[in-house]
This record gives sequence, structure tokens and C-alpha cells, in this order.
Amino acid sequence: MFKIVILTLVLLVFAPENSSRRLILQPTIINGDNVNITEVPYQLMLTYNKQFQCGAVLISSKHVLTAAHCLYQNGFRSKSKINIFAGVTKKSQRYEEGHMYGVKTYIINALFILTQYKGDIAVIYPDKKIIIDNYTVKPIALAKQSYRSGYEALASGWGLVDDQGTLPDNLQAAYIKTTPCIVFRDSICSEGYLNGICKGDSGGPLVYNNKLIGIARAKISIDGKCALQSELYSSVYYYRDFIKRYTRL
Ligand SMILES: *[C@@H]1O[C@H](CO)[C@@H](O)[C@H](O)[C@H]1NC(C)=O
Ligand SMILES: *[C@@H]1O[C@H](CO)[C@@H](O)[C@H](O)[C@H]1NC(C)=O
Repeated sequence: MFKIVILTLVLLVFAPENSSRRLILQPTIINGDNVNITEVPYQLMLTYNKQFQCGAVLISSKHVLTAAHCLYQNGFRSKSKINIFAGVTKKSQRYEEGHMYGVKTYIINALFILTQYKGDIAVIYPDKKIIIDNYTVKPIALAKQSYRSGYEALASGWGLVDDQGTLPDNLQAAYIKTTPCIVFRDSICSEGYLNGICKGDSGGPLVYNNKLIGIARAKISIDGKCALQSELYSSVYYYRDFIKRYTRL
């Protein structure tokens, strides 16, 4: 008889109050290392109602990329409750170390349908220009090719560091290796290694050779866990027309 394996997409958003078992909307970094924001100065943090939610990426002083599902929970989230933090290493120190911005508006990719896992990318316009110091806050360039296969790329974020629900205070980063996605044409995949993203890492960067190649999105999981599972990043190259249309970058 055939053994039927049901794959679950575990979205990597951090939403402790409301997370459903089926869709875990928070990626995090498993088996990563502590890093200082000066090593990944394009990394941003998104909060909702003052609570840590997701990662995001600085692509210019006026434009931020994230995963669409970071802005959605039973409907699109009120922009007035979302904040963007730049220049943060320790989550608990975000008000002291970092710079906080509000959201003027955001644009969700038109293909985004939560249950179909398409178009999971969004552009956020901050309420004022993000101050760039080229040290703790620095935009990253967009990839001009897909980098879908065989690249050692750096993922980072404040997501879960294990399957027991441990959230780190310090920013984490880990290298993953990109592999072709079989089902998800709009994504970059990675094999299931011991390291990689988990809940809370959604919306964060995947970077190769100083280029943003992906936005952290989900785990493809057979048990709802993160370790050893394949992962999905929305491809920045695949969505280049969307990004260009709304950022001119
Ligand atoms: C990050 O590095 C900078 C420069 O070395 C240092 O001033 C800062 O304290 C570091 N932050 C943390 C949280 O370790
Ligand atoms: C940051 O780097 C950019 C590009 O090299 C430069 O134009 C800008 O003046 C720099 N800003 C600061 C504050 O150093």
C-alpha cells in the first residue's frame, strides 16, 4: 500500500496568542549563531501591537520588504498597530538600541492567498525615511538572478531557535543551501538541515553575495516542526516586477 505523507506548510510568523496548529505563522532560526546587527544591517523587525511578529528587510530608506502573511491574521492588519525597528541586535533592547518607525501604507502582492501559499511578499512604506548609517542600518541590493540551486545563503532573524518554542533575544543567523523547489515555482527552497528558519523568522532576509535573494516564508513540514524540514523563501527575482512597480528599485 502507498504511504501517504501529508505535508504541512508551517508559516513562520510569530503569533503566540492565535497560532493555529495547521499554519504556524512564524519562521525562526534553528542552530544559528548570535550575530550583531552590524553583520546584517539590512535586517529589520516588525512588531504588531508592540509584540514581536516577524522579520523584514530594508531595501531603501523608503522601502521595506516582508512576507505578506506577516501582515495578515484573519484579515489584513491595521497599519497603525505595526511598527518597524531598524538597528536592533537584542529584541528586548529594541527601544534603546534601535530606531522605530510607523507604517504609512503597505502593498500586498495581488497573488497572495493565504491558503494557497502564493504571492507571499509585500512592500511596506514607512511613515518617514529610515535613517541609514551604513553601519547598523543599511539597505541591501535586490538579486538580479534567481539563485535557486546550490547557493550557500545567509538567513537571519529572531525566530524560534528550537522546536520547544525558545525565542532568542539576540539576532541569529545561519547558512542554508538553496535547492530547486518542486512545487513552488515562486520560491527558493532549502533542504532540511539542522539549521534554518523557524517561527518568527518570516519576512526576514535570505542573502547571497550581498544580494537579497529571498524572503523567509515557511517550512514544508511533515510534523509541524522546524528542524530538518525543507524551507521556502519567496524569490525576490521571481517577484522583481512587483517590487519594481512599487519601489522603482
Ligand atoms: C554590536 O556591535 C557594536 C559595535 O561593535 C557594539 O557597539 C554593540 O554593543 C554590539 N551590540 C550588542 C548587542 O552586542
Ligand atoms: C552610506 O553609503 C551610501 C552609498 O555608499 C552613501 O551614498 C551615503 O552617503 C552613506 N551614508 C552615510 C551616513 O555614511
